[in-house]
Amino acid sequence: MSRSPAEAFEKVPTVIFPDSAAAAKALAQEVKEIITTKNKAGQPAVLGMATGSTPVPFYRELIRLHKEEGLSFKNVVTFNLDEYFGLSADHPESYARFMAEQIFDHIDIPKANINIPSGTLRSDQVFSHCRDYEQKIDSLGGIDLQILGIGRTGHIGFNEPGSSRDSLTRRITLDRVTRQDAASDFRGEQNVPHFAITMGVGTILRAKKLVLMAWGENKASVVAKAVEGPMTEAVSASFLQDHADARFFIDNGASRELTRVKLPWLTGTPVSWTPRETRRAMVWQAFQTKRPILKLIDEHYNEHGLSDLLSEQGPSYQLNIRIFNQLQHTITGWPGGKPDEDDTYRPERARPYPKRCLILSPEPQDAIVGMGGTIDRLIEQGHEVRLISLTSGNLRVPDSEADKFAETLHQLASNAAQPGDWKAQTAYAKDALSQLEAKGEFGEDTPLLRDLKKLILRGELRDAAHALGLANDHILFADLPFYENGRYRRFKSTQADLDSLKKILEEHKPHQIYLTGDAADPSSVSGITFRLVQAALKACSHEEFAGACSLWLYRGKERALEPHEIDMAVPLSPLQMEKKENALNRFGALSSLEKEAPEINRDNARHYDSLGLAEYEAIETFQRWRRS
Ligand code: F6R
Repeated sequence: MSRSPAEAFEKVPTVIFPDSAAAAKALAQEVKEIITTKNKAGQPAVLGMATGSTPVPFYRELIRLHKEEGLSFKNVVTFNLDEYFGLSADHPESYARFMAEQIFDHIDIPKANINIPSGTLRSDQVFSHCRDYEQKIDSLGGIDLQILGIGRTGHIGFNEPGSSRDSLTRRITLDRVTRQDAASDFRGEQNVPHFAITMGVGTILRAKKLVLMAWGENKASVVAKAVEGPMTEAVSASFLQDHADARFFIDNGASRELTRVKLPWLTGTPVSWTPRETRRAMVWQAFQTKRPILKLIDEHYNEHGLSDLLSEQGPSYQLNIRIFNQLQHTITGWPGGKPDEDDTYRPERARPYPKRCLILSPEPQDAIVGMGGTIDRLIEQGHEVRLISLTSGNLRVPDSEADKFAETLHQLASNAAQPGDWKAQTAYAKDALSQLEAKGEFGEDTPLLRDLKKLILRGELRDAAHALGLANDHILFADLPFYENGRYRRFKSTQADLDSLKKILEEHKPHQIYLTGDAADPSSVSGITFRLVQAALKACSHEEFAGACSLWLYRGKERALEPHEIDMAVPLSPLQMEKKENALNRFGALSSLEKEAPEINRDNARHYDSLGLAEYEAIETFQRWRRS
């Protein structure tokens, strides 16, 4: 594969696709060719399979090839990378069940050809099981193509940091970060298994071809480490650098930290100095030199590979002022626009005032995490703010919470003066308690339990929103069907989702919409809702409000925006931060990433300060969402 000079920093060939669907299509095509070639030679094609959200679009494309183009898997043998230790094959979160639901039940692969490490071994069986797994791979001539995802720890399979280059299939302890990432699948980190059986790095590297896929910004930094960093046991995916036929297939989001994307001027190739790219270079340069923008001089430009920029847009003094002003103009305490003021350099227009602001939260907590302080400001400044939780979020709620509420309801019902009045409530509480007991720790929630958990989260969101001054009739719940009918990592949206979003938009005719998820993994809840809102807006494009509405993207749990990416920076006072933290504390089950939000807001303020702008307590950041 020939590589351009821009890719000089990359030690593994890396292809950036416009989106995961395009990458999945290309990879599925390669698989088709491998199957066809091997079968012509009278041999089975041996595929190494991965689980998690990453390969889902790829599996959907394989199913399509099977159903629509007749691709047969009769002569395919598969080996999965890993399995949680302690989960039986029928457990809803076992990888065996995942593979059945996501692909094997929809293609014609014989059951006998499917190999997945067992999750239910006794400790004394682990060694021989793993050895047999290795031998079986070798006896079939090795894996023709191994599919990989990458965890935020840099793991491939479950080879957590510390796994050696030559490690083989074995039992491993899962890293804390990996367990945090799986927390929502298991309704809480405490329920995530501590161990797994995984192919080793050495096992994986014996495959003839390797393709590692990664989607969304949350993977960007680990992808850059694996592709450009040193080969190290601290990032097991970096060992792909040691393979003759390994490639990374990534989307735009996951490519953001690669040098050719992030610091293109360092690759020695010509850079097109768009306003965004210029701002990026200037902010980077200021951070590198630890100087405010206005104190950068010619030498700094030259030493940081930016002489080109200087000769195109200098002299430095003027360029500095221009960028300083641009950054300065992103700051506004008036996210809904400042009425009766000149808005030439303000992020949001002054009129109309007040505005109808629609704050869309993929799951109940997301908007408070990402823009709790801004919600407070919008309300205070007299706008008509409506907060809509797009999904119920019920899959996040731990059983212990459901148990607590059902038990309380039960107690209330039995204490009622006239127990007859509480018949329905008593029955509901009893059903909930017995269903909780029947399903056990890991069982799937029944519709009644999902309903109860939905109500619990609704209560938490109302409570949190009240803390920001939002009244009940301004807090709405869309309960999009894709979420109600699905599970994490396997959601599938339909026309019904689109229709209900369209209805919401038409009903509220907003002047401003706030949303998140553009940079998220496309199969995550925020990734799916982002695309749905995008489609719903398109479907409403003939309506007047849709063309005039301003669209703002906030960041929830995704990587924080860097200063050059920010179009609107809303400063928060210490008191407002207190209010936001207070609102966040009303949620029972925030993930560790979500809990970090206030610190990220404070970091944003520190960054602005170090660039020479005003020093605030904290800042919430937004990007203008440009319609496609
Ligand atoms: C799964 C596996 C893991 C995942 C990785 C990314 O079989 O081996 O390495 O590929 O944890 O997970 P997702 O795709 O869910 O982000």
